[in-house]
Amino acid sequence: MTYLVTDNCIKCKHTDCVSVCPVDCFYEGENMLVINPDECIDCGVCVPECPADAIIQDTELNEPERIKWLEINTQYSNEWPNIIDQKDPLPDWEEHDGEENKYEKYFSPLGEGPDIMKDSPDYD
Ligand code: SF4
Ligand code: F3S
Repeated sequence: MTYLVTDNCIKCKHTDCVSVCPVDCFYEGENMLVINPDECIDCGVCVPECPADAIIQDTELNEPERIKWLEINTQYSNEWPNIIDQKDPLPDWEEHDGEENKYEKYFSPLGEGPDIMKDSPDYD
């Protein structure tokens, strides 16, 4: 069992969740966060902190969704940098809150941080 960050985090990234996690197992992408399922201790304290209701216990998802989000959280928590401090949400979060199929429309595989492409002079 684990908790997983799901679709409504994308393009919102409120980051309230990171300030309560006792084991600091959130990782930051360009437009969403993920949980490392191997590090999560299933305490559930992050769930009510998320204004977007994006954090869900894996057992509450249907099987295709469980597999999808488990794979995404597992893969990207091993690629993206750890985040432990809360920061401002993404600027357009209100516009995207509750929108459907954000993963298919907007998901970015880039990790947040100084090395990502958007900081390159060639990125447009
Ligand atoms: Fe961290 Fe607990 Fe949330 Fe897992 S359930 S990500 S351990 S706060
Ligand atoms: Fe995302 Fe919710 Fe955390 S929007 S960054 S899972 S508080």
